[in-house]
Amino acid sequence: MKIFIDTADIAEIKEAASLGVLDGVTTNPSLVAKTGKPFEKCIREILDVVPGPVSVECVAIEHKEMIAEAKKYAAWADNVVIKLPIIREGLKAIKALADDGIKVNTTLCFSPMQALLAAKAGAAYISPFVGRLDDISNDGMELIRQILDIYDHYAFDTEVLVASVRNPMHVVQAALMGADVCTIPLKVINQLLAHPLTDIGLKAFLADWEKRAKE
Ligand code: E4P
Repeated sequence: MKIFIDTADIAEIKEAASLGVLDGVTTNPSLVAKTGKPFEKCIREILDVVPGPVSVECVAIEHKEMIAEAKKYAAWADNVVIKLPIIREGLKAIKALADDGIKVNTTLCFSPMQALLAAKAGAAYISPFVGRLDDISNDGMELIRQILDIYDHYAFDTEVLVASVRNPMHVVQAALMGADVCTIPLKVINQLLAHPLTDIGLKAFLADWEKRAKE
């Protein structure tokens, strides 16, 4: 399973990249706004340090405008992936961009049929938001299972990118289900590594080492 970081914060991206397991980055307008930086500066800084796919979200909501905006961002670097919402106009734009060889990450997916349509249009990624479904007492990870089953039946190339991840169990379940990608906030990436028995064991090994008979 590929691991992306879900942030536009360059310090967080560098920290995650230093672990050696980071495959890509997802951003959205809210995450970019949080940095307080101008949009293009923020995205170009990320592109300078990340060789893997970087999702850059369009804010246009009419398909011709989406396509123009997408083409502008796609020209910034080869690893730009255009993020578009799964709405009627977005679907038209996905098809046109895919036909032009531009990769699209379809965002704001909350149903299996939205995912089927995105795949048929040629999206490179589908981003179901599991945490936001959990927030309204739905089962976010059940949506992932349904999409993986549907995609398996028809051999789509679209990768299932688990988004809106809130805790390590989302990641465990994503990996068990065979999701292609999980985009994870830095806090949760750090939680994946942590185990109290690892810390206790290491402390004991180091203490015993100090107590050994000196050579
Ligand atoms: C996906 O690409 C989005 O950026 C993100 O995962 C949304 O997460 P949130 O629901 O925590 O805002």
